Amino acid sequence: MPHRLGHAPRFTWRQPFLRRPASRLRAVVVAAFCIVVAMTTRPGADGAPATPWIVAHRGASAYAPENTLSAFVLAAEQGATFVEFDLQRTKDGALVLLHDLTLERTTDVEDVFPDRATPVVVEGQTRRQWPLADFTLAEVRRLDAGRWFDVRFAGTRVPTLAEAIAALRGRSGLFIELKAPDRYPGIEAALLEQLRAAKLDAPWADPRTPVLLQSFTVSSLQILTRDLRTTLPVHLLFGPADAARWTSDLGLTDARTFATGLSPDKRVLRADPTLTARARARGMPVTPYTFRAAAVGAYADVAAEMREAIAQGAAGVITDNPDQAPPRR
Ligand code: G3P
Ligand code: CA
Repeated sequence: MPHRLGHAPRFTWRQPFLRRPASRLRAVVVAAFCIVVAMTTRPGADGAPATPWIVAHRGASAYAPENTLSAFVLAAEQGATFVEFDLQRTKDGALVLLHDLTLERTTDVEDVFPDRATPVVVEGQTRRQWPLADFTLAEVRRLDAGRWFDVRFAGTRVPTLAEAIAALRGRSGLFIELKAPDRYPGIEAALLEQLRAAKLDAPWADPRTPVLLQSFTVSSLQILTRDLRTTLPVHLLFGPADAARWTSDLGLTDARTFATGLSPDKRVLRADPTLTARARARGMPVTPYTFRAAAVGAYADVAAEMREAIAQGAAGVITDNPDQAPPRR
């Protein structure tokens, strides 16, 4: 119905969404919020975001079972910029989140499938293992992935990538580690396809849920950036054993050909405080791992340890304790 002259137009549900005054205001506020989030979390040309990233390692894994939706949602509630998790594949091709290549440490697979073990010899001793790759998604879904951590989490399941995206969308970024990808040929394309379907396959496509990929496996990063030509940020993970290869100026130049940033073991950064500046000179953010309140060594607490890494120029910290991340610089 047309409004009378001299009276403000009244809201009706027939008005297009963005022409309703309240909806318009809400859309403007959300858009402004997204722009601010993108501006503060997206690294600049010098490889540093305005606000250092808090990356929750396997979720808030100090407080909830690692690589579960409970740990992911808690991390988001604790203010994590990103939630880190480990991507692998089931026997029937489902993308699921699990750190170990086998199921026995973090699930009750030994009780549910006692006859499905593979014997392996470790340091001269025969042990039984249950490789994830031997189980279908339906079988994995029967497992309890929470009780080992605390009975309060009994009934928690191994999540799929799709579930993690749904749980974290709009709440936190995704820091996705391709774990042992050489065991899962084609997992890079499958991952990018799921991200494309979720409209998350471009950098900061959803500013509230930015996506970053990482792996210890160089060939997998090369598949992502050279073959599949992803434009998403891609970090090279490495530990002290590979520090000599990647932290020299030549090594950094080499790494830059297939990765946009680095995720070194925190000990690598401590041994070479010049690393962040040299990486940032190449536009590469550095996100060291893993900061744990349960293991702070000589530091007063984990916040002090994280603060030192940020002061050294780290773009962010990967931590089991996102709630204890230091105040922003
Ligand atoms: O994100 C860094 C860290 O996750 C790498 O080590 O063994 O916990 O996957 P890991
Ligand atoms: Ca990981």
